[in-house]
Amino acid sequence: MMKIFVFLGAPGAGKGTVASRIAEQGDALHVSTGAMLREAVKNGTPAGLAAKSYMDKGALVPDPVLLDMIGELLADAPADAELLFDGFPRNETQAEQLEALVRKHGATVARAICLDVPETVVLRRLGGRRVCPVCGMVFHVETLPPKQAGVCDGCGNPLAIRDDDKPETIKRRLEVYAAKTEPLIAWYEKTGKLRHVDASGEVDASVALVRDAMAD
Ligand code: AP5
Repeated sequence: MMKIFVFLGAPGAGKGTVASRIAEQGDALHVSTGAMLREAVKNGTPAGLAAKSYMDKGALVPDPVLLDMIGELLADAPADAELLFDGFPRNETQAEQLEALVRKHGATVARAICLDVPETVVLRRLGGRRVCPVCGMVFHVETLPPKQAGVCDGCGNPLAIRDDDKPETIKRRLEVYAAKTEPLIAWYEKTGKLRHVDASGEVDASVALVRDAMAD
């Protein structure tokens, strides 16, 4: 049966970093809706054109865009896939629609894992994040620096600051998270599938704690 692990947590909590490490170490697939949307924007697809203005403001992209993307992904995924959802669902409507989609595709949400990180740490992580616009690798100037400053370890291209990592957009994203996404913690608590993980430490420690929570 297809198994979905939902990663919850504030912008900058480390959802993408942890999910990509776990995917690299095994057969699970990292599904980042933020990365899918950034790719759609870059390619000028209809989803990208619909999403760009919302992303630039730090707002949520309208639900139908996300539900189409996730519906297509589940339709194409192998029946025994293990999917690590980073950034979806993002509000109660998306969580309810995900339940409908998993029933349709014979899948299950196995766990919702909340990466807990204090806001001071989140701000430091977002402020120092650098990304490769070509291959998508993510670095941090202090905690996960590339081997050569400003250059991607994976493909050698120059690193950049994400468009929505400007201070005013970070503030808006944190407000949107508190208003729309944080309530999902209580939503998943009621399902009995929620696990909390202290993700404020080093990357390897967070990866190990998340792996334990996935297995428990
Ligand atoms: P998205 O890309 O999902 O952004 P986000 O949720 O704001 O999350 P981030 O990517 O900022 O943080 P992260 O937790 O993955 O942290 P990371 O691992 O990079 O979404 C972007 C936009 O797309 C949204 O604003 C919205 O507009 C739209 N969108 C996406 N999904 C949507 C949906 N479902 N519905 C509607 N709209 C949607 O880590 C951050 C930094 O910290 C990195 O530099 C990393 O190297 C470093 N770091 C990570 N972990 C550690 C650690 N343990 N120790 C030290 N450093 C660490």
